[in-house]
Order: sequence, then C-alpha cells, then structure tokens
Amino acid sequence: MAKPNIRSLDAMAFTSMAGERERHIEEASTAIPPKPSSYKANRMAAALHPSVQHVKIAQVIDRGPRFRSFVLEADEDRGTEGLAWFDAGQYLSVEVPLPEGAVTRPFSICSSPLDAKNGQYQLTLERVPGGRVSDFVWDTWAEGTKLDVSMPCGEFTYEPIRDAKQVVALVGGSSITPIYSLAKAVAEGTEHIESLTILYGTNTWDEAVLEAELQELADSCDAVTLVNVLADEERDGCEHGFITLDLVRKHAPEGDVSYFICGPQAMRLAIDAWIDDLGVRRKFIRREVFGEYRDPEKDPGYPAPAATEFKLTVRVCGEEHELTCNAHDTLLNWMERQGIHAPARCRSGECGWCHSRLVSGDVYVPERTDGRREADKKYGYVHPCATFPLSDVVLEVPPFAN
Ligand code: FES
Repeated sequence: MAKPNIRSLDAMAFTSMAGERERHIEEASTAIPPKPSSYKANRMAAALHPSVQHVKIAQVIDRGPRFRSFVLEADEDRGTEGLAWFDAGQYLSVEVPLPEGAVTRPFSICSSPLDAKNGQYQLTLERVPGGRVSDFVWDTWAEGTKLDVSMPCGEFTYEPIRDAKQVVALVGGSSITPIYSLAKAVAEGTEHIESLTILYGTNTWDEAVLEAELQELADSCDAVTLVNVLADEERDGCEHGFITLDLVRKHAPEGDVSYFICGPQAMRLAIDAWIDDLGVRRKFIRREVFGEYRDPEKDPGYPAPAATEFKLTVRVCGEEHELTCNAHDTLLNWMERQGIHAPARCRSGECGWCHSRLVSGDVYVPERTDGRREADKKYGYVHPCATFPLSDVVLEVPPFAN
C-alpha cells in the first residue's frame, strides 16, 4: 500500500485532538486506580523476576566428604509464596552472612525447572578446604536455615533459536550441576534437545558427584548419554585421561552440535586451546565461567603492577572507605574482606551487577572475563568481580542489592 503524502494529512484533525483529550480527562473517574501490583502482568513479572526470594533449607543431603546438597523451599513466613521459574543452567546468587560481613556467592541450580514449579530448588556445593564461605556453609547451614537468594540468573542456558538440536557438554568436577539440571529437563520434556552427550571429567570415579543420578537419567532417557572421563584412574566403561579434541570427535554426533563448556579454569583454558579446531560456528560454543578468575599473572601480556600493595578508596552511599589491596585478587574480594557489602551476582565479569565507576587508578581486566559494554570501557566503568588493581585505585560503588 502506498504511503500517504504528508501534505494530504488533515492538520485540523490534529488541532482538535487537544480538546478531545481534555474531554476524556474531564469525564474520567476520580477513583484512585488500583495498585500496580494488582495487575496480572505486574504480578507475573514479580513472580518471574523477584528482587529477592526468601527461602529456607528443607533438607540437607550428604554426598561424601566433599559434597553436600541443599533442598530449598519458599519461606512463606517471610513473604515468598512460590519459587521463580528458571531455565536449566541458571544460578542463584545466595547471600552468605559471614561474621566479618555479608557476601554473595553464585550457586548453579542442580534440580530441574519442573522441581521449581513443584516448590523446590536444589544446590549441590563442594567443600573448599579453608574456604571462608565453604567453612561457614558447612558449619551453619542445616534444615530450617533461612536464606535470601536472588532471582534465577545467567545465560548458560539452551536457546532453541540459537543452539543446535544436538548438544555436547564438556564438564569438569563440581561444575556438573548446571548440566545435570539440563539433563533432567531433557528427560522431563521441558527442554527440547534431540541429544545431550555429557563428557564428564574428574580425577577419579569417587569425585564424580551426582554420578548415580546422571546414570539413571542416561539409562531412562534415550536423548541423554553420559561418558565418564577419569584422569587418574582406569575403569571399565570409562574413558581414561583428559577431555581432548580426539575424545570429543569420538563421541560427538554427526551434524550441527552446540558445545556447552563448564569446568574449572585450568580445564577451560585447555579446551580453549583446541576448540576452534572442531570447526564449528562461534554461536555453537557456549561457556560458563563457573567461579572467579584466578592467577591473572599467568596471562600472556599481564602488565607488571607498580608495587606489592596499594590503597583502595571506595566511595559508596556518600561515604569514603580507605582499604588495602594487592594485584593478586579482585577489587570485589578486597572490598568484601574489609567489610564493604558490594553488589555482585555472577562474580565472573558477565552479568554487570557489580558495575562500578573507576575514578582513578590502573587495573587489569582479563580479556576472558571482560563482559563490559563498549560504552562502559569508554567512560571508565569496571566490573570489580573481574578487575585486579595495578596501582592505588579510587572506586565508586553502587549500594548493595541482591
Ligand atoms: S558480579 Fe556479575 S559482573 Fe560482577
């Protein structure tokens, strides 16, 4: 249809609109409109994206000396009536009230979306010897413990428009949790993936957490295949060694495949060295950073810091705090260690929740964890969870929000 010529529009029709509008205002009811929360769309938005979810631990499941699962349910006494739906692969940012100050930690949900609909999330955590959060969790989390968690977050999810119908997951150690969630969702029919092949790398058989549950899924669902890869042990039915290019070629199906990579930093770096040799399109390579970036000084091109210790000045809520820091840890960790409760969710540079203004100072942002937009880089913003100081730094931080 041809567009009308602007000159042919009736100017009088526009000028009479003001009167028309006045008339509607005059005739309108003077009753106070209902609260926004009473609208169905707003209620749905709040249920899907709650600013905080109050939950309590309903069950603790011991999984050997290193692993423990926590089943969470909505804490209705504190106003949370149901748990938000999530996509398999997402995580919760959990507030952990350490004696020296609260911090947040991202924990992948290892139950399925259907479990959330039925009122439960499950987290499976690994004990890190000497880890202050880990020790606190093992010592204090029990049935009935109340927690505050964020809405489900994260992009490590299957997206049918972008991803191939066949998925190969390359997983290491305790990072199996989001992939277990995905496998369960496939078996339950809420994720429509034609085949999910999981190459699950651990040092030994005993370290493979959720192994029995995964095997049960693989046995009961034709779309799920599990391949255990043991680095330090030979065992019937398992591959021996590390997850390598040859091993992936051996087990990956023909045709388009999306690769979901999830594991400790050393494993991810090793896979990054050969993943391009598979010759798959970039959009089919998906990565979950799973934890904080470590040992930045090992990166090629890492610039030498100006000294061994620096001053970190943090401006937050109109106050200024003088802290100390060095180049070996992130700005976020230095703030939390010294009592500043800064906003954070993913802790790996991706989500932008910790987005803060670098007023002055030199910093190092590893390329792999630099999730900033171009505008942020241009106007001096950083993600403190993935930023290492190289000199004295002045940082302007937004107030805490989970
Ligand atoms: S907490 Fe997600 S980018 Fe820093």
